[in-house]
Amino acid sequence: KKIVIPSLSFFQNELKGEGVVKSRRTLGELAGIFENQDAYSQLPLDQLAYEVYSYLPEREGTPGGLYFGITQLYPGKVGDEYFMTKGHFHQQEDRSEYYWGLEGEGMLILMDRERNTWAERMMPGSLHYIPGGVAHRVANTGNSVLSFAACWPSDAGHNYEEIANKGFSARLVEVNGTPKLR
Ligand code: 6PG
Ligand code: NI
Repeated sequence: KKIVIPSLSFFQNELKGEGVVKSRRTLGELAGIFENQDAYSQLPLDQLAYEVYSYLPEREGTPGGLYFGITQLYPGKVGDEYFMTKGHFHQQEDRSEYYWGLEGEGMLILMDRERNTWAERMMPGSLHYIPGGVAHRVANTGNSVLSFAACWPSDAGHNYEEIANKGFSARLVEVNGTPKLR
């Protein structure tokens, strides 16, 4: 099999077909994650918030397999909060993940099981290790597309429910032009 350095063009040009899944989330699908409901209700529900290109060579749940994905998160704000991914714990609690920045500027927001929340700056070349049991979400703090790559175990699964119900214990908001956890 041909080996290609992973990049977005890998998905867009080289790897049409098997194992590649493209998914997208609109602002409408992010209902409830932003604090400012008035600001949210003024935005079009069909506006694209982010797209994920995933390469899933193994069947979901295969022990020992690895998945690879690139997320393209568009810039924008809802009130003073940045556009962000839904965020999740992994279904299998002890499964970890790597994220690394490709393009644009952002923050990786992390929360452990004790609900301690912290954030790491994402930029081209930044590498982020997300240990098992740590929820993860990314915010685009810049004016251009934030692109990041991810590698996670094919038996990690996703638990969106807890974050959908209780959120993170802190929100990343813009204060005087800079991102701050509140
Ligand atoms: C994963 C990764 C990553 C993530 C996307 C979209 O476990 O699959 O963390 O691919 O799914 O960046 O973020 P949400 O899954 O939180 O919408
Ligand atoms: Ni994940």
